[in-house]
Amino acid sequence: MIGKFYPSSLYLFLRFTKSNPIKKRILDCGAGGSDPKLALFFENGFETYGIDISDEQIIDAERYCKQHGINLNIIKGDMRNIPFDSNFFGYVYSYLSMVHLSKDDTAIAVNEMYRVLMKGGLCYLNFLSKDDVNFNEKEKTKPGEIIHKHGNEEFVHSYYEDEEPDEYFNKFHIIYKEKRRILKGKYFTTGRTCILDYIVKK
Ligand SMILES: C[S@@+](CC[C@H](N)C(=O)[O-])C[C@H]1O[C@@H](n2cnc3c(N)ncnc32)[C@H](O)[C@@H]1O
Repeated sequence: MIGKFYPSSLYLFLRFTKSNPIKKRILDCGAGGSDPKLALFFENGFETYGIDISDEQIIDAERYCKQHGINLNIIKGDMRNIPFDSNFFGYVYSYLSMVHLSKDDTAIAVNEMYRVLMKGGLCYLNFLSKDDVNFNEKEKTKPGEIIHKHGNEEFVHSYYEDEEPDEYFNKFHIIYKEKRRILKGKYFTTGRTCILDYIVKK
């Protein structure tokens, strides 16, 4: 037991998984970094898999795994072309990673998640709300898409109206949706202050 503190929405997703009788095999899309969220599911008996597009983020996650003596199975991969067979996972999620895709690429990634999910499987995804502190309409390139600079690198961030992400889920059933405002706390340091959470079922 690692005893780490995770974002509240992941505990909620874990709760939903516990009342869904399907194989406990889970994929995290954008799983890398020094604080891999997959550890929560590993601790709860899941067979875990992760993909990340960045070598550096995978190395950071591997360092974490080594420190804690666990293997989360995080490999290089792009969530727009998920390197797993169709219907392989009981659960798929992406925690504040899909926010880095353009809106067109987000539609592609959500379709890929649908493909790799078993019938009856659950998916948790989140989106940045236009009410987030970092949304600035003046900087937009396309509606709701903003380029943020981090050092010399530029990242796209997509921001959404409250109902806008619903259109990605035509093939799913939306079983839970929440608009989460983070006022203070550990995950406030990510800089995100307003998030739209979805739990959907195939
Ligand atoms: C803000 S970090 C969040 C990482 C992790 N989910 C967490 O909460 O600690 C975003 C991650 O998404 C990854 N990422 C961005 N685009 C991706 C893509 N198309 N496919 C897979 N991973 C991607 C980045 O490399 C980065 O590791």
